[in-house]
Order: sequence, then structure tokens, then C-alpha cells
Amino acid sequence: MTALFRPTTAAGAAALPTLAELRARGVPIVMLTAYDYPTARIAQAAGVDVVLVGDSAANVVLGYASTREISLDELLVLTRAARRAVDAVPLVGDLPFGSYEGSDETAVATARRFVDEAGCEAVKLEGAGEMLPRVRAIIAAGIPVIGHVGLLPQSVVTPDGYRAQGRDADAALKIIADAVALEQAGCAALIVEAVPSEVAALLTARVTIPVIGIGAGAGTNGQVLVFHDLLGLGEGHVAKFVERYAEGRSVLEAGARRWADDVRAGRYPGPEHGYAIAAEAMARVREGLR
Ligand code: KIV
Repeated sequence: MTALFRPTTAAGAAALPTLAELRARGVPIVMLTAYDYPTARIAQAAGVDVVLVGDSAANVVLGYASTREISLDELLVLTRAARRAVDAVPLVGDLPFGSYEGSDETAVATARRFVDEAGCEAVKLEGAGEMLPRVRAIIAAGIPVIGHVGLLPQSVVTPDGYRAQGRDADAALKIIADAVALEQAGCAALIVEAVPSEVAALLTARVTIPVIGIGAGAGTNGQVLVFHDLLGLGEGHVAKFVERYAEGRSVLEAGARRWADDVRAGRYPGPEHGYAIAAEAMARVREGLR
């Protein structure tokens, strides 16, 4: 198993505890998604332990209906932007739908692009079962992998598919077995999404790697949320587990509206926003126009 995961990107970053150390010390791990320079800058400045450039970018940044629609190239552009911002904590790239499932070679090639072109310290992929060989292949290529169990958005094909998983005994046991299999395959950490809190707590106790929950209660080793959900930048329905810590959208919209009103009312720009030119130079400009 790879001993994840110490960022190597900035002086002093190596002093950060690894996620495994945080689990061992019982310190909750804080992971936040980010998708570009400013959001990643904010996440790092807020003191999160790890930044994930999630394929949720499909929905919250690119306006697609499903994470299945974002392309590898689109996600790499966003990941590179986040990398420019994040220099003190690990950055994780999310392998998008269709970019890794087909073969071990494809999975390794895609994971390499996240490392070589976007500077990620690790990649995340969804699922266990048929994905276990992909996980092993990527790890054998020297790239740490974070697994993802429970609700797998890349497998959702209808809007009503976004629902909690593992709510009957067989489904719960399967999710726990998947988590154990992903640990055995060498995953450095796991994300568990939208499963009952008690199931997630049992799962966390069954593995030794860090388990980061989203909609999985307080019994995991940490939490992850989508930046736009957390800070109120999105529109419409959000999942039950989202708690808004800011009303970002209304703050930004109000600012933009005030500016538009000021432009229309002649209050912007003021003299303080303009550049000056010496009177003599201006006289010559006028002269030149005669
Ligand atoms: O894509 C994403 O943002 C994710 C997190 C919600 C875990 O997978």
C-alpha cells in the first residue's frame, strides 16, 4: 500500500500530517472540492487538509446535467488551474466517466495525465468490483488512489438515481465489502457517499485507511463537500447532507446588481477609477485631431 500522502509541492508542505496520520490521531480530515484558481485558493486559505477537483465540476461549473458529461480534457483544464493555486496541501484529481473503466492501460494513462499534466498527488475513481484491477494497475504505476463507494454519481442515469445507498442489509454489506476490497487493492483512502451513518461508521471501523464521508454521518474519519454547495453558489435543490455556510450566490449577485445600477445611474466610474493624462499631452491630442 502506498504510504499516502505528503504533498511535495511547496517548501514546508511536508510538515503537514498525512491523511493516515490524521486518522491515527483521531483528527477529522477536511476535504473540499475546488475547480479553478480562486476556489482552490479559498479552499487552501480556509485550511482544508486536501483539495479534490471533483467531476462534480460537470454540474456546478460547466452546467451539465450529469457528471457523466464532463470530458477528461475539460477536467484537466480545471485541475491545472486548481494546481496553480494549491501549493501546501495535496491535490486529488477525479477520473471522469469513460476515462478509466475500459482497461487497465486506459486507467493508468488517464491517471498519469492527472499527475504529469495537472500535478496531482493522487487520483480518485468510483466503484469496486470490476474497477479493482484498474485501482491495482494505477497504484502499481506509482499513483496513489482514493476509492469511492456508496452513491456513485457516474453510475446514475436518471435524476431519481441520486439517493442514499446501503439502506437494506444486503446493500450495506456489499458497500462495506467493496470498501474492504478497495483497501486490499491498495487504496490510500476512501470516500463514502450517501449511506446511512451507522453503516458508514461500521465501514470505517472495518478498514484501516482514512474514510472521508459525504452524507455518511459523523462516524467516518472526515468530511468532504462540494464547494458550491457549501458556500451557496449553486441554484436549486441540494442534497439533504449539505449545510450552507455562506450565501455566496446572493452576495455576488447583489454586488453585480449594485454595479449595474451604478453604471446606469452614472455613479460608476468615478474620477478615481480613471487614468490621467498631462494637460499638455491632451492639448496635442486635440491639436492632432483638428
Ligand atoms: O466529484 C465530486 O465532487 C465528488 C465528491 C463529492 C466526493 O466525488
